[in-house]
Amino acid sequence: MSIAAIDAKHAGKFDDRELTAEVIRSFDATPDPRLKFILEQVVTSLHDLVRRTNLTFEEWERAIDFLTRTGQACTPLRQEFILLSDVLGVSMLVDAVNHREREGATQTTVLGPFYVGEHKPTPHGSDISQGIAGEPMFVRSRVTDLAGQPLAGAEIDVWHADDDGFYDSQKPSYGTQGPSLRARFVTDAEGRFAFRTILPCSYPIPTDGPVGELIAATKRHPMRPAHVHFLVKAQGFEPLVTHVFIEGDQYLDSDAVFGVKDELVARIERHDEPLMPDGTPASEPWHLMAYEFQMKPGAGVVPEPMMAAAE
Ligand code: BEZ
Ligand code: FE
Repeated sequence: MSIAAIDAKHAGKFDDRELTAEVIRSFDATPDPRLKFILEQVVTSLHDLVRRTNLTFEEWERAIDFLTRTGQACTPLRQEFILLSDVLGVSMLVDAVNHREREGATQTTVLGPFYVGEHKPTPHGSDISQGIAGEPMFVRSRVTDLAGQPLAGAEIDVWHADDDGFYDSQKPSYGTQGPSLRARFVTDAEGRFAFRTILPCSYPIPTDGPVGELIAATKRHPMRPAHVHFLVKAQGFEPLVTHVFIEGDQYLDSDAVFGVKDELVARIERHDEPLMPDGTPASEPWHLMAYEFQMKPGAGVVPEPMMAAAE
């Protein structure tokens, strides 16, 4: 305790710095040192914020109400708190501090709320967009180590939004129909996998909850640039959570969740040939996404889906 704080305490005066110190001391007996450290940092940052802003009672109540409603908006199919973390850049920051060294390895980005987890492996070349309107796209990819050696047997989960900007899991039909615009592939002996789908488009994050209020109040737009999500797992390598973005998208510089990295933006070629690379006839012009993933040796936790996969 500082001399000034001791004097203030003896004089019976309230000292807000001493309040902060007292709260931090209240954690002294916490057995888990990491929990103790994080709690100390949270209290230090929150108390500093209140001091720096001279937070009014109205503002404090508004913040409590906002956070309460954010929690109330969460359901087994919706995670408004993660969305809040995303639009405040916290999700990308957590990702960044956990992936500081990625020399030569594919860059990471946010998982997002529409990952639903395990699916049975899908044969190479499958069309994962059956019955969904959109411009055809062929995705040709390979998974390697940092030296470019192919990784056979790697598992890749892919998912993306439809032409209207919705994931299958956002639709009422989810749960009764099989997955669409999502699948799992396993790389062949050359580390390759390929599939057919539709060209994704940019879409808004959900704005019908408290996060949408924040977006509107700050005159931000809710759009994410067009992308395909990839989660790549290979034995002996860190799981890779990433997206491949479509070059030229108007929202690449203003992603609502700050998830774009230059290395993840791919040029998508437009083709008029009558056959796609696997010999499938194309009835209209099609697009080619060719993108390879370089895996970093190590281990890591595979993210848990927030909602169950449709049967
Ligand atoms: C997504 O790309 O699926 C996503 C990521 C963060 C917030 C909302 C959506
Ligand atoms: Fe997405």
